[in-house]
Amino acid sequence: MIVNTVDESSGLSTHGLIRSALKTTEEQVREGWEYLSSLRVLKTTFVEGSEGDAVLDAIRTSFEPGVLSFLDVGCADGLFTRRAKDLLNLAGTNLSITAIDPLSAAALSTARQIPHDVVYRTRFEDFSTEAKFDVINVRHSLYYLRDPMSQVARMTDLLKPGGLLAFTLWGRDCDLYRVYLATRSELANGVSYAMTSEDLEAALKRNSSLRDIGCRLSTGKINLSAWRGSEDVLRSIYIVLRRQLNLPVSDGAFALFRTSFQHLMLTGQRTFAVITCRKVA
Ligand SMILES: C[S@@+](CC[C@H](N)C(=O)[O-])C[C@H]1O[C@@H](n2cnc3c(N)ncnc32)[C@H](O)[C@@H]1O
Repeated sequence: MIVNTVDESSGLSTHGLIRSALKTTEEQVREGWEYLSSLRVLKTTFVEGSEGDAVLDAIRTSFEPGVLSFLDVGCADGLFTRRAKDLLNLAGTNLSITAIDPLSAAALSTARQIPHDVVYRTRFEDFSTEAKFDVINVRHSLYYLRDPMSQVARMTDLLKPGGLLAFTLWGRDCDLYRVYLATRSELANGVSYAMTSEDLEAALKRNSSLRDIGCRLSTGKINLSAWRGSEDVLRSIYIVLRRQLNLPVSDGAFALFRTSFQHLMLTGQRTFAVITCRKVA
């Protein structure tokens, strides 16, 4: 059934401007909210380390204060988008934001966070605009894009000369990546591989349209007792990974995931990196 959700309003919503061509079933709307809440639960198990601060630092050190056009790819609940706007504003930089995400829950939630900016409910793969951006932020969303390096090429096209691309991705030593890899090989073989920061950094170095490739590492810890001791937390991890891996929602599939998880050797390490680069002028 197609339901009339916020995504169908291509005008001014009560919370901000949301544009979309996508239609959603009731089930997809429910799954979208469930995904956002699972993401929140997962984040409560992260201790120390802030890759968000590294993104803001990269923007601050790359541009003089002023107005910057900012594309946020995969904005989820919009909390980081809002934080970026508020904190950079304090430093004299005004972000004019375009945020995109295919989930209607994400578009609605982000529009509430940044009511004076623009939110599109769309996949990046389907997003097109005449606009060019100073900054494109791809924070933990590259994993979800089909054929990521061709999407990175499209992002480069959407940048102004000298513009900044900022990617945040897990590193090879991150426990979340370990769980992802094991789940992929045991339950989802054949699904396209989600890159690590190391993979991306090497690939960007081969792109002649980009310069100043830099890497800001962020290391933190994971509360492994919560991962091991709470069914809710484990289910949240499954729900977050399931989207990238295209796994079923069923209890049986979750039980298989739980068994595979119990056999994993984890370290309690959370390693992420912010990889930045600029478009050649
Ligand atoms: C892990 S969340 C990242 C959240 C946010 N950027 C942050 O830092 O808190 C990944 C987001 O990417 C979105 N996403 C998934 N597929 C996408 C696509 N094809 N294009 C753009 N965003 C996508 C998901 O819906 C989800 O909200």
